[in-house]
Amino acid sequence: MAIGVFDSGIGGLSVHHALVARLPTADFVYLADQANTPYGGRPGEEIVDLTRAGCERLFDAGCDLVILACNTAASVALRRLQQTWLPGYRRVLGRPVNVLGIIVPTIEAATGLPWEHEADLRGDKVEKLDVLGIFSTPATTRSRVYEIEIDKRRQDVAVFSEACPDLARLIETDAPEAELRAAVTAHVSALSRRIGRAPDRAILGCTHYEIIAGLFRDALPPGTPLIHQPAATADAIALYLERHREYRPGEGGGRRFVTTGAPGAQNGLVARFWGEPLVFDAA
Ligand code: DGL
Repeated sequence: MAIGVFDSGIGGLSVHHALVARLPTADFVYLADQANTPYGGRPGEEIVDLTRAGCERLFDAGCDLVILACNTAASVALRRLQQTWLPGYRRVLGRPVNVLGIIVPTIEAATGLPWEHEADLRGDKVEKLDVLGIFSTPATTRSRVYEIEIDKRRQDVAVFSEACPDLARLIETDAPEAELRAAVTAHVSALSRRIGRAPDRAILGCTHYEIIAGLFRDALPPGTPLIHQPAATADAIALYLERHREYRPGEGGGRRFVTTGAPGAQNGLVARFWGEPLVFDAA
């Protein structure tokens, strides 16, 4: 059996990278839905349908646990699939399977609180001095998942989201660094103008952006802490697997990369980020 990692494209490789380092003996299948990327500008129902199709492929490929390493899929589709589709699909497969996402570990890292914690909302309102900036796709921004879930837990954190409509596509298509830098700088400036100053901390709330984290670091004031989704997610999944022995991660250290798009070597940015070229098979 194996762990499936799903993203609309290459962005989830940033999460896969951290998962492999954390769980070196587990078997992994990475699925990139490159025939349909980017997801970020699509209507919600389409994102739900595409995410369900990706999960089915990964379960059918023998995965017990699928990680939605894509903020857009996780923020728009995860709860719906867990509640309306997964129970029936478990019966079809006749084995325990589950789908988890990267939003919960990210919010735990951003709030410093376990997911189960809810703030006492009857308490005094306090001035929100800790300003958290979030960069994400338009669909994730529209879902307001970060604002809603952080506000439930931390009354003292103000969340400002900046939708970056074209950035995932630019990364996916290996745009020149100057173009990526200009786009990132424009988004950081736009967010800072809306806040009235730069954010105190930031979440790169799209897995593609982690691949160009250095450009965000350059555009934000020096030393601005970034909350890293890959590390937070890998730690949370390792803990989850310890508690849930029914999901078997495999033990052969297998790594398969599949795409619904064109098989072959992935873009140069990924090769540089990964340290070597990655070759994808057709899904
Ligand atoms: N990498 C994805 C995310 O984390 C989606 C990018 C896209 O397909 O628009 O949101």
